[in-house]
Amino acid sequence: MTQNELKEAVARAAIQYVPDNCIVGVGTGTTANYFIDALAEIKGRIEGAVASSEASVQRLRGHGIAVFDLNSMDTLPVYVDGADEINQQLQMIKGGGAALTREKIVSAVAEQFICIADESKHVSVLGKFPLPVEVIPMARSYVSREIVKLGGHPAYREGVVTDNGNIILDVHGLQITEPAKFEAELNQIVGVVTNGLFARRRADVLLLGTASGVKTYK
Ligand code: 5RP
Repeated sequence: MTQNELKEAVARAAIQYVPDNCIVGVGTGTTANYFIDALAEIKGRIEGAVASSEASVQRLRGHGIAVFDLNSMDTLPVYVDGADEINQQLQMIKGGGAALTREKIVSAVAEQFICIADESKHVSVLGKFPLPVEVIPMARSYVSREIVKLGGHPAYREGVVTDNGNIILDVHGLQITEPAKFEAELNQIVGVVTNGLFARRRADVLLLGTASGVKTYK
């Protein structure tokens, strides 16, 4: 199977976690796009969605799925999204699509985070994928210097402005053996909006697309 076929398979498998008449949290990226397309097929049994990016809002609306403001929700039963890397503890690196801040916000509100990923994303140690950090533009150089002190090699993602009007630093050269600790350390740097480590809010379920079928980890 191709990588896209694996992504589509896990996206379709995630539909079983969507309760009737709910508002579902929807992530961002190519795997999340397959999930949005699968959601369109069952749109008659859901009320709508909350999205983690403007791109996902547009795709949902294109399918005629109602999009709600997160501020009008107390909770969401489920949030479905991809990942750039995920480890055995279901801790993730996210933000390859620059949507990490809204992804973290929507997933914080959700009762269950269902991660959908092809097997290339499953790793034993996080960090080979450069860790995205969303930064207030005027703090770019300061934050970069602080990240170097923590052992990382930050690279400015040229030409990218997030949905929140900020920039992205991609941090190379990391081997993240204590993800929750490192997530907190990065958050302490003034000017950091969010970092792409999802260790404190890890996934509850991983649907992993493999050559031998979709495997479920909890
Ligand atoms: C976007 C993300 C995505 O979930 C992550 O980049 C995975 O993307 P894809 O499904 O395209 O491989 O965090 O900010």
